[in-house]
Amino acid sequence: MSSETKKSIRYLSGVQPSGRLHLGNYFGAIQNHIRLQDEGECLYFIANYHSLTTVQDPEALRRYTFMAAADYLALGLDRTKAFLFRQSDVPEVTELAWILSTVTGMGLMERAHSFKDKVARGIVPTLGLFFYPALMAADILIYQSDKVPVGQDQIQHIEMARDMAGYFNHTFKKEVFKLPESVLSQTPKVMGLTGGKMSKSDEASVIPIFGEPSEIKKKVMSIVTDSKGVAEPKDPDNNVIYLLYQLLASAEELSHMENGFRQGGMGYGDAKKLLLAKLEEIFGGEKREKRKKMDEKPDLVEDVLIESAKKVRKIVAPTMEQVYEVVGIPSSQIKKRLLD
Ligand code: ADP
Ligand code: TRP
Repeated sequence: MSSETKKSIRYLSGVQPSGRLHLGNYFGAIQNHIRLQDEGECLYFIANYHSLTTVQDPEALRRYTFMAAADYLALGLDRTKAFLFRQSDVPEVTELAWILSTVTGMGLMERAHSFKDKVARGIVPTLGLFFYPALMAADILIYQSDKVPVGQDQIQHIEMARDMAGYFNHTFKKEVFKLPESVLSQTPKVMGLTGGKMSKSDEASVIPIFGEPSEIKKKVMSIVTDSKGVAEPKDPDNNVIYLLYQLLASAEELSHMENGFRQGGMGYGDAKKLLLAKLEEIFGGEKREKRKKMDEKPDLVEDVLIESAKKVRKIVAPTMEQVYEVVGIPSSQIKKRLLD
């Protein structure tokens, strides 16, 4: 593929700053995001408006937003290859979300699993939580994204974005929006320490990518297991220690753990130590140092966010002009005159 064709594929994705980024985010999405920066034009953002549906503490929202951006940079996001910005720095997205909602039937929104799951977990069912997929559709469609790399839990939202693009194009009889496709990583669903999906909304389930070593050690060593002794055979397939190790270890290291479990000889304590050592090998050292530097120089992170937002706002402008035109709303030029 020539570099021109490569760059013509636009990847877009977002991550919510509603807690510290964890191994599920990394293996489900971020690892892919960083790899793709060499394959296409990549736009990644910190979805702070989405997080308002669960985080209502301004200091926490600012802190998590900074942390998410700093984590991406420490994990290898290269500002010369990809854009990294805050969702709220492109305010046209919220405008478009409203416009899309006016062509979207309630039935589609009511079928969203994530709304039902979140409410079942005790999150307050606000209008914002219900509207969440429309904002996400606007995020995706406004950039005319081709591909959206995410974890399994987001697939339905991307289907909904395609539906909304179709409704809009059909209603206004113009192909304004492209229909995006989702891209899954090799591990679209990473299990959490408490047995379900690893998720920021359940602190006990996560291993934060850049947690303090003492915290990570405590979390790993307290993973609950059955009471089988060292010599007893164990089933690795539903064992979170093994499943996490699978994400990090080489084939040889993995088969050492697997055989030890199946045949007996590998105790849970030793398996936890192997997992800890791998976590340190992959996310400790150079990456942790880089992450610490971000804390010392927060302006560097802010600079990346602002520079990217300025550039991506130029990308959204022509699409928004078309949207204003087809729905009959004054164009940006007219809106600008109001600021004079
Ligand atoms: P969380 O569910 O922890 O709040 P987000 O909703 O912000 O995380 O998700 C950011 C990205 O990480 C999305 O692409 C999502 O699909 C992915 N992701 C989140 N949790 C997991 C997981 N346990 N396994 C795989 N991917 C995940
Ligand atoms: N809802 C996504 C999540 O929780 C985050 C997100 C917001 C997103 N807007 C997006 C992901 C657009 C991909 C594309 O993971």
